[in-house]
Amino acid sequence: MTAGPDVPGLVADARAAIGAAATTEEIRQVAVAVTGKKSPLAEASRALGSLDAEARRELGRHLHEARAEVEALLEAKRSEIRFDELSAELAASRLDLTEYVPGSVAGPVARGHLHLVSQTRDALEDVFVGMGFDVAEGPEIETDWYNFGALNIPPAHPARGMWDTFYLDLGEPETTLLRTHTSPVQIHLMERAVLDGNLPVHAVMPGRCYRRDTPDARHLAVFHQIEGLVVDRGITFADLAGTIETFTTAYFGPDIHSRLRPAYFPFTEPSAEFEVTCTICRGEGCRTCSQTGWIELGGCGMVDPAVFASVGIDADDWTGFAFGFGIDRCAQMRHQIADMRALIENDIRFLRQF
Ligand code: DAH
Repeated sequence: MTAGPDVPGLVADARAAIGAAATTEEIRQVAVAVTGKKSPLAEASRALGSLDAEARRELGRHLHEARAEVEALLEAKRSEIRFDELSAELAASRLDLTEYVPGSVAGPVARGHLHLVSQTRDALEDVFVGMGFDVAEGPEIETDWYNFGALNIPPAHPARGMWDTFYLDLGEPETTLLRTHTSPVQIHLMERAVLDGNLPVHAVMPGRCYRRDTPDARHLAVFHQIEGLVVDRGITFADLAGTIETFTTAYFGPDIHSRLRPAYFPFTEPSAEFEVTCTICRGEGCRTCSQTGWIELGGCGMVDPAVFASVGIDADDWTGFAFGFGIDRCAQMRHQIADMRALIENDIRFLRQF
């Protein structure tokens, strides 16, 4: 009688091969090697035929148990490998949400603050509210009538060249455009006051404006203005000049003053440009102010009777003044910002300074 196959040895070899497999492909190959047609187990089974009945039963039982054990080892290893591979896949695609959890895990979340332009708008509003003005706002998309016509700038008027803009095709019968200044809010306010029968008006109107301009150190194509309007009885140019001077010293400080120079705007008559002491040289004269000691801030004047007529206000009964200037320009002058484009570049190192 020949020595029977070493069944425990077969199982030990299979166990070692299975233990060494590390990937799905490797375990597939090992499975073929230890349980396939050419495996030692299969060969041992083929030898059963040459044994007598009792020896066959005995070895058959051992081989059956051995195969079951090897199958179980294979299955356990397969699921271990699958688990490892899935875990690796998960780890690779993991998004660590704890980074976004406020507080404990990632530390305190840094708090932002208002943009310098918003801070400037708020500060300007505060000054005017302190002087008795209300605050109002109007739409950024206007019709031709509000942006131009009602402000005494008829179609083809040469003054339109000063306010070239972006026209919108909204399918409306009227021409619509991005407003080039906050002056159209004057029209909305006066219309409303007439409708509600609550003249006089004393209001400032801050907001975003648009122009077909190439940005440079002192201009942006999207910028901000604040408009002022007073409509009351007996309002004179002296009220306008006094308001401008009071605002200038309140906002820029007691050593900064204002002056008015004759100018032209279609919606005011007479009109003026108002300038304030150069905040860089404090009036000495420097490059920024072209050695004049003054910097132009905005326009102003007495409301033109033609504007009153377009909103149905009786110019014999009421008079008024208006002004408008750039909020971004104010921020630039107050904080001595060399290039206005810094306001829209969103460089956090710049914005953090304010
Ligand atoms: N809207 C003018 C502009 O953007 C500025 C201006 C001038 C406003 C005179 C006024 C004013 O209210 O009276 O250039």
